[in-house]
Amino acid sequence: MRNAVIAAIAGALLGCGQTPAPPAGHAQKAMPDKTGSHEHDAEASKERAYHAQEHEEAAEAYADHRGRGHHKHHRFTNAAEWTAMFDSPERAAWQKPDEVVAALGLTPAMTVADLGAGTGYFTVRLAKAVPQGKVVANDLEPDMVKWIGERAAKEGLGNVVTVAGAPADPKLPEGLDVALMVDTYHHIDEPSQFFGKVRDALKPGGLLVIVDFKKDAPEDAPGPPAAMRVDDAIVAAHLQKLGLTHERTDRELLPYQYLVFMRKPG
Ligand SMILES: C[S@@+](CC[C@H](N)C(=O)[O-])C[C@H]1O[C@@H](n2cnc3c(N)ncnc32)[C@H](O)[C@@H]1O
Repeated sequence: MRNAVIAAIAGALLGCGQTPAPPAGHAQKAMPDKTGSHEHDAEASKERAYHAQEHEEAAEAYADHRGRGHHKHHRFTNAAEWTAMFDSPERAAWQKPDEVVAALGLTPAMTVADLGAGTGYFTVRLAKAVPQGKVVANDLEPDMVKWIGERAAKEGLGNVVTVAGAPADPKLPEGLDVALMVDTYHHIDEPSQFFGKVRDALKPGGLLVIVDFKKDAPEDAPGPPAAMRVDDAIVAAHLQKLGLTHERTDRELLPYQYLVFMRKPG
């Protein structure tokens, strides 16, 4: 039973097309031998610059590929069907939603966006974390947005507002303190335009956190197959190109997912 539910969640969170192969040479190169700390530092710094350049090129190729519509995926049109999977109690074992929300460092009066909010799995938790603030729940699918509105009303969460976005524009209000996107980055068809709008909606100093599946998670882990997952270094490089600062990446908190923390310069 448990395996069936996990398999169902895995299916629900499946991506839907091929992520482009990174440019040739993207694979990690072996670090040079240590020949003394000074030389080693210089070599290590060259190596970091080299990889940063590779990630930037791969991120550009990724965004370009998505923006040209090469990657088409299924849509999430029926919230009543998806809720059994997205809101399954078993999901908490690996998704650790309370730990994810805690990692955002929210204070009670903040304005937070849940990007690609689905059936509101994170929206309702965020709403409880900002009782004097507001949660803007965004999704592409009108039925998801309607579902979240009804869910928030049922759960007595008066600080949730919903926004139906477009593929290249999440249609967010300005003045966000934090924007969270969970298991959705790999679904965004127009990532450069979409995240350009997210950057503009963040306050100076605001935080964007992307949670998505590790490229090197086991093939049978929840989420899309490895070929469709987007490496966290590609996510960071892409968002850096849009003017956000890469603060840190956490690959330890969750077993199958990373958290990439990007800050809008203050
Ligand atoms: C795998 S679900 C994740 C839902 C939710 N974040 C969660 O963790 O349960 C992906 C969601 O992203 C939405 N989505 C896909 N492209 C989008 C876009 N361009 N803008 C907003 N939402 C989008 C889908 O409609 C779907 O509800």
